[in-house]
Amino acid sequence: MKSLSIYQDFVESAIAAYHLPETPNNLYEPITYFLGLGGKRMRPVLALMSAELFGAPFESAKNAALTVELFHNFTLIHDDIMDEAPLRRGQETVHKKWSENIGILSGDALLIEAYKTLANHPPEQLAQLLPVFNQTATEVCEGQQWDMDFETMEKVEIDAYIKMIAYKTAVLLGCSLKMGAIVAGASESDSNDLYEFGVNLGIAFQIQDDILDVYADQNKFGKQVGGDIIANKKTFLLLKAIEDADATQSQELNSLSTEQDYELKIKQTKAIYAALDIKAKATKKMNEYHTKAMENLAHIGIADEKKAPMRELATFLLGREH
Ligand code: IPE
Ligand code: IPE
Ligand code: MG
Ligand code: MG
Ligand code: MG
Repeated sequence: MKSLSIYQDFVESAIAAYHLPETPNNLYEPITYFLGLGGKRMRPVLALMSAELFGAPFESAKNAALTVELFHNFTLIHDDIMDEAPLRRGQETVHKKWSENIGILSGDALLIEAYKTLANHPPEQLAQLLPVFNQTATEVCEGQQWDMDFETMEKVEIDAYIKMIAYKTAVLLGCSLKMGAIVAGASESDSNDLYEFGVNLGIAFQIQDDILDVYADQNKFGKQVGGDIIANKKTFLLLKAIEDADATQSQELNSLSTEQDYELKIKQTKAIYAALDIKAKATKKMNEYHTKAMENLAHIGIADEKKAPMRELATFLLGREH
């Protein structure tokens, strides 16, 4: 079995070789900076693995793989503006290093690069890839809007939260896999099963992201630990705490939402989470979606050993520290 790093290295060199114009410097330098910060590259890796699973050389999905990584990085630049995040991948976010206006426009330009890269596919593939990618891109925006709307909503159901994270995060994993499958000429039914695998894995992945946002080691995480608490994000952890809280804890959570001393806000929110065993409850939820994902994968009629790289990736993702 190929190790994960073979696919990741392939993506890294494709990104390093990606050509962007020099000027205007303030448009392109932030893009080069951001793409150069690395990241796990898991969406392109999923596209490559998927093409290989269905019998094509993984290299044949290079453009689809690059497309989803460019798109992902565009969403992150804008997400960091929306979330007022100071750190990404251990470095300053684009809007902090440059400005919000530069983050907006370089993000837009990066989205256009994603479409240009997709357009390198031959017309008969493009005709199938484009609707999948378009649908996903729209859903990511919808998910991001719910994420923002939920910050100020008092009551958010867990089901609405799951739909929100499915849209903002998980569908892009599904899309990456489906695009790899399309390149390899997989059947409609297999590529749909693989899409579902990606969505369930993505939901587990976002719950893990919510957990890490509270409990990660700041030296390893690369983002601001506690950022979700500061922003009143309706993460699984907060929603579960709201659900399980007694009257006193409810009142405390409520008043913490307007606390301006962020260190205190994080500390006291974590104390309530600890009292309610929230980390374990979130981990349990994450594992439920991981199990669903594994069931989707098992459903695909391909020799089990060929699925080993995807299982390895899933295990890596849910055990990660950043
Ligand atoms: C971050 O995605 C955004 C989420 C959907 C949680 P990743 O954790 O894949 O970010 P990088 O690309 O590895 O930095
Ligand atoms: C990110 O969700 C989803 C998208 C960027 C579309 P988060 O806001 O939780 O991602 P991080 O934690 O900043 O990476
Ligand atoms: Mg964010
Ligand atoms: Mg966000
Ligand atoms: Mg997050």
